[in-house]
Amino acid sequence: MQVNVDKDQIILKKSIEVVAVFLFEGQLPLGGMVSHIDKAANGLIQQIWKENDFEGKLHQTAILYPRGNTEIRRVILVGLGKRGDFSADKMRAAGAKAGQTARSLKVKSLAVTLEADELELSWESATEAVVEGIILGLYQFTEFKTLDRESIRDVEQLHIMIQDLKNIPLVKKAADRAEKICRAVYLSRNLVSSPANEMTPSVMAREVLSIAKGHKKMKATVLEAADMKRLGMNALLGVARGSEEPSKFIIIEYRGEGKERPPIVLIGKALTFDSGGISLKPAEKMDEMKTDMAGGAAVIGAISAAAELHLPVNIVGLIPATENLPGGKACKPGDILKSMSGKTIEVINTDAEGRLILADALTYAGRFKPAAIIDIATLTGACIVALGDHVMGMMGTDEKLKARIKKASEQTGELLWELPLWENYQDLVKSDIADYKNSTGRPGGAITAAAFLSKFVGPYPWVHLDIAGPAWLTKDQTYNPKGASGVGVRLFVQLLTNWSDAH
Ligand code: BES
Ligand code: MN
Ligand code: ZN
Repeated sequence: MQVNVDKDQIILKKSIEVVAVFLFEGQLPLGGMVSHIDKAANGLIQQIWKENDFEGKLHQTAILYPRGNTEIRRVILVGLGKRGDFSADKMRAAGAKAGQTARSLKVKSLAVTLEADELELSWESATEAVVEGIILGLYQFTEFKTLDRESIRDVEQLHIMIQDLKNIPLVKKAADRAEKICRAVYLSRNLVSSPANEMTPSVMAREVLSIAKGHKKMKATVLEAADMKRLGMNALLGVARGSEEPSKFIIIEYRGEGKERPPIVLIGKALTFDSGGISLKPAEKMDEMKTDMAGGAAVIGAISAAAELHLPVNIVGLIPATENLPGGKACKPGDILKSMSGKTIEVINTDAEGRLILADALTYAGRFKPAAIIDIATLTGACIVALGDHVMGMMGTDEKLKARIKKASEQTGELLWELPLWENYQDLVKSDIADYKNSTGRPGGAITAAAFLSKFVGPYPWVHLDIAGPAWLTKDQTYNPKGASGVGVRLFVQLLTNWSDAH
């Protein structure tokens, strides 16, 4: 998407396919740029408003065809709902509505008017919200469609119209930042949408290597099975054993700050397919388990955005990548694995594989003496039962880190709720014959998974994010069309941005 920022006069002069304007419920009289457009269009906007055919209700849209002293061919009105309920996230949703409506009109370029003061947002957040909403809402995954490709439509250009010349540099900068972040979300969504036969651990590793090539401050390393064996990553290798696809341990480093500064380690679970293994999942919806690498995809997206934005932070991404299949050599229920930490794990259920590969990644993270470790994983169905489809679960050992993540989530609109990790959960993961067991049954499943992970975290601030629900949407959700959401990418970028602002 090409994003331009222009002074508003151009709207009235140039021939323009469509301009979208955003209006609060009951927002009369019209002010600012909207009133200019309305005047040029002989009061068309006033008229629809007076007829009560458009009231500015949240997500309400109307399309107008002005005649009169203007070259604007169409105006899309988008409702913002009640002023008192408004937020940056509502602006993203409204942006998505504008973009999607423009696409349905088959236009190639969309203009939007932006009046941050009217929205009571800063220019940065208003711009970011509208650009994010439009671009994220227009995402489509069409790579594998070969029929009727000419019917695939895309809005290619976005013009942001503002009234005051002096704000142009600020708005340009914010739009550029938003566009880069959206590109990273698209990257993550594409990785997740790709089917498991195309998106294998080897392909993921190759993608990361090629991303790292494009940035001076980025470096990628891929550990092969032999390397993992040498390191004693037998929990990860135990999961990989049932599959013919070689597993990979992908390491991405981005050094945006002095070399010696301890990095933030982001760990992303990457099961490119999770069949459950010998503890096989039911057939229904098993296809969705191609998305079990969404944590890894979020880490890849976030680090590539951090590099594009030149964020002054050091980050290490660790992505254990494998398939979980019931092959002849597969790990069996009852097997005991010796993890890289030396601790032994009894495998009660081979479908609780995420925590096994994360255990070794958490141990490996200790090598970097990190300032913080955050893991992100489609870890448990139990988290969906607890919080629903749209909310990620947060558990961890460090209050300050949790508060930072909570704040970032409030800024990006990626819903998150903390679940407790009290001491009384810790005994549940003990095994009778090994140190720990990988499954404790249904009660508190999201939390007992986190309790298990905590056994492999060294003396570092740590937070675990369970994205089993929001990683994959079965229904359109404003700026997240159904399918892969790319959840976590914007959250991490915001967290890292705030982090770099803080020191
Ligand atoms: N990848 C799944 C969790 C999952 C379920 C993600 C639904 C997205 C949607 C994970 O590996 C898994 O199978 N977890 C088990 C753990 C259980 C066996 C302790 C689960 O949640 O049922
Ligand atoms: Mn599983
Ligand atoms: Zn899984």
